[in-house]
Amino acid sequence: MKKYSVFDCDVLPLPQIKNRAGNITPVENSIHIPFDVKRVYYLYDIPAGESRGAHGHRLLESVIVAVSGSFDITIEDGVSKKTVSLNRPFVGLNIKPGIWRDISNFSSGAICLVLASRLYEENDYIRNFNDYLEFRK
Ligand code: TYD
Repeated sequence: MKKYSVFDCDVLPLPQIKNRAGNITPVENSIHIPFDVKRVYYLYDIPAGESRGAHGHRLLESVIVAVSGSFDITIEDGVSKKTVSLNRPFVGLNIKPGIWRDISNFSSGAICLVLASRLYEENDYIRNFNDYLEFRK
């Protein structure tokens, strides 16, 4: 498995089909995102000031989209760190395997859509940052 850095985690422009009556953003496996989706989940009703997702994944790859509202995603790889603000339903952030992420500054009513390459597997998580740094060595 390649050792990815935060610089491999790109912002992906997704298609936007515009219409007077509203817009559509389709996301197709391996076309608009670089993997096949095995699981979709979304975070919502996030209380003001809360942050989510402070963990790393060993194998999971994801694309995160602010389908409503906005939030900031901070990603790090043990050496470098960057923060990406998402606030458009037609823009995703691709988080490669082996990256630590933390999601914060949720606007009121924000919905955080996660397209994931794997089913839920607790043993794919690294929840302790020191364990994460050890894993990255
Ligand atoms: P978790 O991913 O730890 O949330 P966060 O890091 O954003 O705070 O998930 C919280 C709980 O939800 C955890 O106990 C496992 C459960 N969960 C599932 O059962 N299936 C899923 O697909 C996800 C994402 C979480």
